[in-house]
Amino acid sequence: MPRYAITTFGCQMNVHDSERMHEVLRRAGYTESEDPKAADVVVLNTCSVREKAEQKLLSEVGRLAKWKQTHPEMVLVVAGCVAQQEGERLLTRSQGIDLVLGPDNIPELPRLLDDIGLGAPPLVRTVFDLEAPRFLTALSDEGDVARNPTVDARAPTAFVTTMKGCNERCSFCIVPYTRGPERYRPSAEIIAEIAGLVAAGVREVTLLGQTVNSYRDPSSELSRAPGASPDDPDESEFAALLRRIAAEVPGLVRLRYTSPHPRHLTPSLIEAHTDLPVLARHVHMPVQSGADRILKRMIRRYTRAEYVARVGSLVARLPDLSLSTDIIVGFPGETEEDFAATLSLVREVGFRGLFGFKYSQRPYTPARKLADDVPEAEKSERLARLFEVSEELLGAHLQRLAGSRQRVLVEGAGKEGTNAWTGRTERNEIVHVAGAERLDLRGSIVEVVITRANKHSLQAELSDEARAAAKPLPAAPPAAPVEAPKPRAAGERRSLPIVAAGGG
Ligand code: SAH
Ligand code: F3S
Repeated sequence: MPRYAITTFGCQMNVHDSERMHEVLRRAGYTESEDPKAADVVVLNTCSVREKAEQKLLSEVGRLAKWKQTHPEMVLVVAGCVAQQEGERLLTRSQGIDLVLGPDNIPELPRLLDDIGLGAPPLVRTVFDLEAPRFLTALSDEGDVARNPTVDARAPTAFVTTMKGCNERCSFCIVPYTRGPERYRPSAEIIAEIAGLVAAGVREVTLLGQTVNSYRDPSSELSRAPGASPDDPDESEFAALLRRIAAEVPGLVRLRYTSPHPRHLTPSLIEAHTDLPVLARHVHMPVQSGADRILKRMIRRYTRAEYVARVGSLVARLPDLSLSTDIIVGFPGETEEDFAATLSLVREVGFRGLFGFKYSQRPYTPARKLADDVPEAEKSERLARLFEVSEELLGAHLQRLAGSRQRVLVEGAGKEGTNAWTGRTERNEIVHVAGAERLDLRGSIVEVVITRANKHSLQAELSDEARAAAKPLPAAPPAAPVEAPKPRAAGERRSLPIVAAGGG
């Protein structure tokens, strides 16, 4: 059986796409190889959102191409955003690539590999599925997730795509170029996928989309959500979708979404948060800057005051809700005063997690016309100052939780040697539960007492009631831990953030 290996760079959307590539390859008879050097097909699923990420990919291609000189039978596939962005050009920029595959062309992967096996020259397939958008799911053809061997039935959390592409034109961002225009998935399909996942044991679902809250149902099956004004151009059908999920999948314990655009944080979405207990008390709402002058140059389509008012009305209704955000430092023309406005916004909103990035000029973006005039050293300094404020806010928040009782969804075993379970609260704080190593907690929601705050997480013990209710493990400590959430280190954005500062 031919073997394959996939290396994933970049965001959650790419992680999700890689899972789908695993699925199409396994169904076509391939088996996974841990070691790319032992694989017949090596796939690099790439990110181009910042220059550093793109460079990382090119050096990886270089390394593999060298290996390929002595192993010419290896097939090298470049997928993801760099593939979409560069297309044909990749073949001339780097030797050794056999296939350049866009994010919308994943279902064609086995067929294209067959063509290459039959001696086809290097292929480029980067066509957006504009007419009939396809959304690959974790479901098997029978619609039964439990019978699909590629789904880890023990993982209590899952991502579900609701839309792809982006119609915004934030001046710094390459995503509209690499992922194409917005296309939405019919609500019935989304519901069916979530229901299937829940039937297979999933407790928490995160809806995924580039501007996830601009959702509109292409099948027009949703009724208007309370609070939605037909005259508000920023209203969408996202709140209606959330309500339908809550109503039709009552077994779902927690629902999150990422990433929304502040423009679509409309009254109907705020109403949905107020009405639906299934929605987590955490929203990641990218703001990018606290200075109006910069927001305007970024084409973000809101002012600082509008952002503050919108998240303010959400928090007014749900005072225990946590907010996290994305921020870019060193955007063209950003002065010290502009940056100070960003710092003051971070304090004003009280973000409990943020991803900070140094501005990186990207091809095809409108901001290319602006001089990248903030020196690199200044960008680094601003980023460090930003993280300092964010760590201070997070630290103070975590300290306040010491001694409190919290409900934690246990995701898996903690780091080796800690003998702890790890999970998250509904506000997304990471909690390590000690003293329960003989109990089977994976996938359960348990009540814990917070014993101590770490820098990025919380220590806890089970409450007496939870301990009495828990099942013992059949054998000693959890055997094959699923990866538990880790505090963010500097690097690429990979997951729904909070309770950590990260980025780079
Ligand atoms: N809506 C998308 C955003 C994708 S980009 C989502 O679902 O997450 C993720 C983050 O990367 C952005 O919010 C922004 O903070 C950062 N980013 C995007 N382009 C950038 C650039 N050119 N330089 C630095 N940071 C960038
Ligand atoms: Fe990028 Fe702005 Fe869309 S950050 S993904 S262009 S909302």
